[in-house]
Amino acid sequence: MKVTVSEFSDTGNIMIIPLFEGTEKAPNNSTKGLGRSSTIAVKSAISSDGFDGKEKTKISIWTEESQIILLGVGNKNKLTTKKSRDFGAKCFSSLPEKQGKNIVVRFTSGWDYENISSFIEGIILRNYSFNKYQKSKQPVDNDDEWSLVCQSTQRYTKQLSLEINRLSSIATGVHLARDLGNEPANRLYPEEFGRRAVEWSKGKENVEVEVWNYSRLKEEGMNGLIEVGKGSIHKPCMVFFRINPNLDRDKQVPCIVGKGITFDSGGISIKGSAGMDEMKLDMHGSASVFGLFQALYATGYKGRVNGIACMAENMPSAEAYRPGDVIDTYSGKTIEVLNTDAEGRNVLADGLWKASEMNPSYIIDLATLTGSIVVALGHEATGLFSNDDLLSSRIKQAGDYVDEICWPMPLLPAFEKQMTSSKIADVRNQGKGRWGGAIQAAGFLKQFVQEREDENGEKIQIPWAHLDIAGTAGIWGGESNATVSHGATGILVRTLHHLITES
Ligand code: BES
Ligand code: ZN
Ligand code: ZN
Repeated sequence: MKVTVSEFSDTGNIMIIPLFEGTEKAPNNSTKGLGRSSTIAVKSAISSDGFDGKEKTKISIWTEESQIILLGVGNKNKLTTKKSRDFGAKCFSSLPEKQGKNIVVRFTSGWDYENISSFIEGIILRNYSFNKYQKSKQPVDNDDEWSLVCQSTQRYTKQLSLEINRLSSIATGVHLARDLGNEPANRLYPEEFGRRAVEWSKGKENVEVEVWNYSRLKEEGMNGLIEVGKGSIHKPCMVFFRINPNLDRDKQVPCIVGKGITFDSGGISIKGSAGMDEMKLDMHGSASVFGLFQALYATGYKGRVNGIACMAENMPSAEAYRPGDVIDTYSGKTIEVLNTDAEGRNVLADGLWKASEMNPSYIIDLATLTGSIVVALGHEATGLFSNDDLLSSRIKQAGDYVDEICWPMPLLPAFEKQMTSSKIADVRNQGKGRWGGAIQAAGFLKQFVQEREDENGEKIQIPWAHLDIAGTAGIWGGESNATVSHGATGILVRTLHHLITES
């Protein structure tokens, strides 16, 4: 989508005029560029009883110049960036394509810079579909792309131009994460993810991607990843992302780790068949890591950041790991496998230990880890667990800023104790009952974050946060995320981009 910013001029094929409740008279500039009869039509509509500017009111006026949509956005004082973004997204999703693909959005009186940016961001984020496997929906020519002109008073245009550019760049990362998340498991398996990451890095001077294949994983003793992935014909791998690897060498920098189960059948502890197709999305943590690096690259971020994607396919087979097995992880700690469907934590055990070795400023892992977090928070928020209050509040604030809610959850010691009470190994991969399943999982992960000495010579764990995105990574019906119609959401690319670049 080509997005530009201008003062009030062109009318486009489709002109959206978002208006506040109580607008009784056409605001200045709303009819600029329209002929006499169109102007009268718009003015009459705005002052008529048929349009009151309340939320969800929308009327269309067909004029000579364009289809004009008056969009009610409710009370001006109650407008938030979230509402504004959602208005943009929803309005865009309802546009008919046959009307033409040049959209103008006119922000007239009462609109401020933040809400304008969010409205446009909503359109940009929603302008996504995953139709590469629908033969009937392939574009026939090249002029299929939408163009969008954001019109506002001259006071904002310069600043808006920069901001919308930045938001578009971040959206490329969100869309990349969605593309990866939506790929079926027969198309995107661990090594294909690695191949795409290498491909992505080509020609980009300040990024590096390294893939540890199956034999390298064996050499390194990454058995958490190996055991989960060995039952599949598609073998596991670990993918390292680095941006600006030669800068900030003397500084501690963040490391972001993603769960990348390209398909989670449950393995020998096989899942039920209802909804199993959704488990192609069990690599969304790794997809968000990849998307984040794209967003950092596209916005020209100048700091160093590390990423790790732990890629495996969890399948039952004669070679698969089993309940009862004991894994020697990369950390040296052993895991008793009680349920092969609790596989995400096994692969993250190696990823977190590896991340710790990089001596990072902090570690954040992203994982579609538990059904339990979906029970707790539904599809509305990501579960946020952390051993560090400052990191936790920074993540929460970053999430709030971009309207991707990260809700703090407790790392209760009782659940951690369940996970360390195996009779035959150091850690067990399942707790002692159903209750608190998401906290059990977080308590497990915590065992694989290294300690290091603080300035007083005391041992303290590296600041770490675990984000359980099982409920927020995908939409399979429902309305929890207006910026997506179906499938992968690209969740947390925007939050982490904000956290890393702005806070
Ligand atoms: N990938 C699933 C969690 C999941 C559930 C993601 C729903 C997205 C939507 C994970 O690997 C899993 O199966 N977890 C089990 C753990 C249990 C066996 C201890 C769960 O949550 O039931
Ligand atoms: Zn599982
Ligand atoms: Zn899983």
